[in-house]
Amino acid sequence: MKPAERVVVVGQGYVGLPLAMAAVAAGFDVVGFDIDVERTKNLAMGTSFTTDVTDGELLAALATNRYCATDRPEACGDFDIAVITVPTPLHDGAPDLTYIVDASRTLSGYLRPGSTIILESTTYPGTTEDMMVPLLEAGSGLRAGADFFVGYSPERIDPGNQMWRFGNTPKIVSGIDEASLENVARFYGSIVDTVIPVEATKVAELAKLIENTFRHVNIALVNELAVIADELNIDIWAAIDAAASKPFGYMKFTPGPGVGGHCLPIDPSYLSWTVRRRVGRPFRFVELANDINEHMPHYVVGRIRAALNKQGISTSRSRLLLLGMSYKRNTNDIRESPACKVAKLLVADGADVHAVDPYATLDVFGEGVTRADLTAQEVQAADLVVVLTDHDDINYDMVIAEATAVLDTRHRLQGPRVEHL
Ligand SMILES: NC(=O)c1ccc[n+]([C@@H]2O[C@H](COP(=O)([O-])OP(=O)(O)OC[C@H]3O[C@@H](n4cnc5c(N)ncnc54)[C@H](O)[C@@H]3O)[C@@H](O)[C@H]2O)c1
Repeated sequence: MKPAERVVVVGQGYVGLPLAMAAVAAGFDVVGFDIDVERTKNLAMGTSFTTDVTDGELLAALATNRYCATDRPEACGDFDIAVITVPTPLHDGAPDLTYIVDASRTLSGYLRPGSTIILESTTYPGTTEDMMVPLLEAGSGLRAGADFFVGYSPERIDPGNQMWRFGNTPKIVSGIDEASLENVARFYGSIVDTVIPVEATKVAELAKLIENTFRHVNIALVNELAVIADELNIDIWAAIDAAASKPFGYMKFTPGPGVGGHCLPIDPSYLSWTVRRRVGRPFRFVELANDINEHMPHYVVGRIRAALNKQGISTSRSRLLLLGMSYKRNTNDIRESPACKVAKLLVADGADVHAVDPYATLDVFGEGVTRADLTAQEVQAADLVVVLTDHDDINYDMVIAEATAVLDTRHRLQGPRVEHL
């Protein structure tokens, strides 16, 4: 594909911004369109919100004059390629596709013959063909396949992962027909190392849900094992490490206070919702995994209460220091973070909850939670320090030296006063 073709990325979030940056680096002319005025203003000034794109990278993209962040839909005009990376939340357990509907309607007004539209948002199988295509056709008066091209390519971004970045992670690509697939594959082939073409958009949509459901279910498995192992008085971490010595047929997952972020608590439910609606049966694995993972913050709070009891302190009279509030190590994303759920439950119990997270950019971790810096005084003042997310940028040696007691849900610390999940 020749450089300086015009690409519109609809949604400049955790998925859309890295994609826009990669497209700029590959020589495309890129419009990052987002309805969030504050976000586009900050991006236009070179201030990124995600650890996956540094301010330096953003400023370099702006300096090429081939990237602009805007909330003006008119800027979407004349695109060759448009990629939709808008949220796909759940509402009362059902997929909420209103963002995809809105984005499709916006783009349909600017569609012209020969252009390609790709959906990247995670969604249930059938969304691209059954929902997006009719909206694009109705809004443009053009025909998909004949006049313009449509595809689906799921995102596999792993926030904070330094090894597998956008460019070297293989990307699944699909199209509603051969010409669409060819266009989609050519576009991504120019910005990532490897594309994996699949035969239908439904296959690509399902592949993404399988990936996240696999992770969700396996995390639930080790979480339930952690609860059981504690009752059996067996060190689950040692057992998992021993199992992981098997060089084949095993993949290591570790327990924690629950699952968070935009994917794991949500995507598997897209699959179970589809199965229920189309097949008329529950997808039992997903429902069980949801149950177990959603219970983990409550379980952690139970362990906190028990740890305080050992010191003769009730939770309502305790002062607690929570370490790591984002849902994932070395990232600033606190969306759906189980750490915030733990904090909320503790506040409801009447505890004096302080929380430290050097990565999280948001000021608040929940009502009643005091955001603190990690100091020796802060650690000494706590009846219990609870490690919820084990960021690298935390002085654990100081924590071990100064803490009265520690409950470590990530198995990061060792010592006589440290208890593990
Ligand atoms: N974050 C991840 O790690 C990740 C990984 C893989 C897939 N996904 C999927 O990618 C999609 C996007 O996720 P995200 O994490 O980037 O979300 P996000 O909330 O970070 O970003 C989405 C952006 O889209 C904007 N937006 C909403 N409606 C719009 C519209 N009609 N027009 C223009 N902009 C609009 C929002 O303002 C927001 O800035 C979701 O379906 C998610 O499940 C996310």
